[in-house]
Amino acid sequence: MQKRYLPVAIMTGVLSAVALVGYIMPVSGEDIPKRILLPNAGGAVVFSHAGHAVDYNISCQTCHHESKEKRTNVQRCKTCHGVTYDAAFVKTHAASINDNAACVTCHHYETAPKKWGHERHQSELGLECTDCHHKDTSIEPEPQSCANCHESGAPTGKKAEAGTPPNQADAVHARCVSCHEGLFANKEKGCATCHTLKPLRDTLPQKGAVKLNSMFTNCAVCHDKPAQKLVPGSMDAYHKQCMGCHEKLGMGPYGKKACAQCHTGK
Ligand code: HEC
Ligand code: HEC
Ligand code: HEC
Ligand code: HEC
Ligand code: HEC
Ligand code: HEC
Ligand code: HEC
Ligand code: HEC
Ligand code: HEC
Ligand code: HEC
Repeated sequence: MQKRYLPVAIMTGVLSAVALVGYIMPVSGEDIPKRILLPNAGGAVVFSHAGHAVDYNISCQTCHHESKEKRTNVQRCKTCHGVTYDAAFVKTHAASINDNAACVTCHHYETAPKKWGHERHQSELGLECTDCHHKDTSIEPEPQSCANCHESGAPTGKKAEAGTPPNQADAVHARCVSCHEGLFANKEKGCATCHTLKPLRDTLPQKGAVKLNSMFTNCAVCHDKPAQKLVPGSMDAYHKQCMGCHEKLGMGPYGKKACAQCHTGK
């Protein structure tokens, strides 16, 4: 090779190396799986991941809705969408969901007490102190804070055994419910009348292990519906997301006859 062609050859080499890297790297510049095999009881689905993300130009968050801010750190759908929300799910999920911030997508509220009008109940509304405080002065010698004797705890809605004080929530609620049945029947909307629902998001540490207070781990305390109805199970989650979008756009397989277009394998 003649010496004067050397710089050109080097330049060409560098350029083709750059082009090759550019070709191998995904167009979006992110290292995402191209195709994903999803084996399941309905027949394996081969999902063209890069096809959807890059060719059809669908943003990551449309599907990976758990990480609204970050494009990395996506999680398998099944970490949150259990086949069922049974005891086995509950036992393992806190350890298997690896993003603390994700806990609040389900465990989303803390109930802080509001100023609820104690004074007005004492005076204007013509109530007796003992409509709420114990009539039996051997139990509560004079009106005082319920928390002095009733321990902190999540509302269960159950009556405590005679002789043992129920937890604070059950004790206080038991008194209020006699006149405010409607508020308790109203579930999550009713709680907000007497409590400020503080999003856990604002109180959880974003780093380190999170141990949630059992006070707000029981969905049924506020919701009539079981978790499965609030957060779809695994098959519904996939079907709703995949077919939901196809139907909305009128593109891609959806509907009763389209099963085999996705479930192609064994
Ligand atoms: C059309 C929906 C859709 C879009 C758009 C999409 N993904 Fe995915 N992605 C999926 C599904 C479904 C899976 C499989 C999840 C599973 O196995 O539970 C997946 C899996 C992944 C995985 C592998 C996770 C693992 O632990 O195995 C990564 C990483 C990923 N996606 C990143 C991205 C990024 C980054 C983008 C945007 C550039 C993106 N995805 C866009 C639906 C999508
Ligand atoms: C970190 C937990 C988490 C992960 C991971 C997750 N989801 Fe969800 N998903 C939820 C929660 C909580 C809800 C219910 C609240 C809501 O609607 O946002 C939900 C709701 C849904 C819904 C019903 C609401 C709607 O948008 O129509 C669909 C469908 C869904 N998820 C599909 C998926 C798919 C598919 C994946 C994987 C690509 C996935 N989810 C990953 C937690 C998660
Ligand atoms: C997809 C929704 C979802 C996500 C996300 C989620 N949980 Fe849960 N969690 C549940 C459901 C459903 C239950 C069962 C509640 C019930 O019994 O009503 C539960 C129960 C619990 C319990 C109580 C277990 C017991 O023995 O009483 C703890 C503690 C808990 N979750 C912690 C966490 C932590 C920590 C995270 C985040 C790492 C998290 N959860 C994320 C849905 C979720
Ligand atoms: C409608 C129910 C209700 C009535 C009626 C009521 N109380 Fe109370 N009272 C409560 C509850 C619940 C608490 C504890 C929680 C709170 O303060 O919000 C409380 C707390 C108190 C406390 C402690 C306050 C503190 O700051 O620690 C005193 C003292 C008290 N009540 C006195 C009275 C007296 C005296 C009357 C009658 C004139 C009365 N209450 C009528 C429900 C009631
Ligand atoms: C000085 C201690 C003390 C204070 C203060 C107190 N309690 Fe109690 N409470 C008890 C004990 C002890 C029991 C169990 C007694 C029994 O079942 O006979 C009990 C039982 C109850 C019960 C279940 C039995 C019943 O009476 O229906 C309710 C409801 C209750 N308390 C509500 C309240 C409320 C509301 C307040 C505050 C306004 C309050 N208590 C303040 C000691 C206290
Ligand atoms: C009629 C008003 C009212 C309604 C409705 C109501 N609460 Fe309460 N709740 C109270 C009062 C008052 C207290 C006692 C607060 C205090 O002593 O500071 C309380 C106590 C609690 C506590 C106990 C806090 C502790 O430290 O132990 C929890 C948890 C709670 N409520 C959750 C709920 C939830 C969840 C709902 C809805 C399903 C609800 N409450 C509906 C008035 C209400
Ligand atoms: C004996 C009946 C009775 C009991 C018991 C009772 N309330 Fe009330 N409450 C009333 C009446 C009557 C009103 C006024 C109705 C209205 O404003 O619509 C009222 C109004 C309210 C209101 C809305 C207006 C305000 O004053 O802030 C709240 C909140 C409330 N009560 C909370 C409670 C809580 C918390 C308890 C239990 C600790 C309780 N009530 C127990 C009769 C009762
Ligand atoms: C302290 C009360 C409380 C607890 C406990 C609670 N929620 Fe909720 N949840 C609410 C309230 C209030 C709303 C309505 C929020 C709004 O309208 O902005 C809601 C809304 C939701 C929604 C959105 C529903 C919709 O139709 O948009 C989902 C999904 C949900 N909750 C799931 C759960 C799950 C799963 C759990 C248990 C892990 C849980 N919640 C525990 C109070 C609660
Ligand atoms: C946000 C919208 C959206 C979501 C979510 C989505 N798709 Fe698609 N899908 C499309 C579009 C747009 C096409 C292109 C249709 C065309 O070009 O005719 C498509 C086409 C397809 C096709 C046929 C052509 C091909 O690329 O293979 C299959 C199979 C398919 N999608 C499977 C899935 C599966 C499985 C999921 C869920 C894991 C999913 N899609 C989620 C928008 C979506
Ligand atoms: C757009 C693509 C698509 C279409 C169309 C589709 N599915 Fe699915 N289906 C999926 C995906 C993705 C999964 C979840 C794969 C996984 O669990 O990893 C799934 C899961 C299933 C499962 C497995 C449930 C489990 O718990 O293992 C069954 C059964 C199923 N589908 C039946 C059907 C039937 C019947 C139809 C037609 C009415 C259909 N699917 C249409 C994509 C599709």
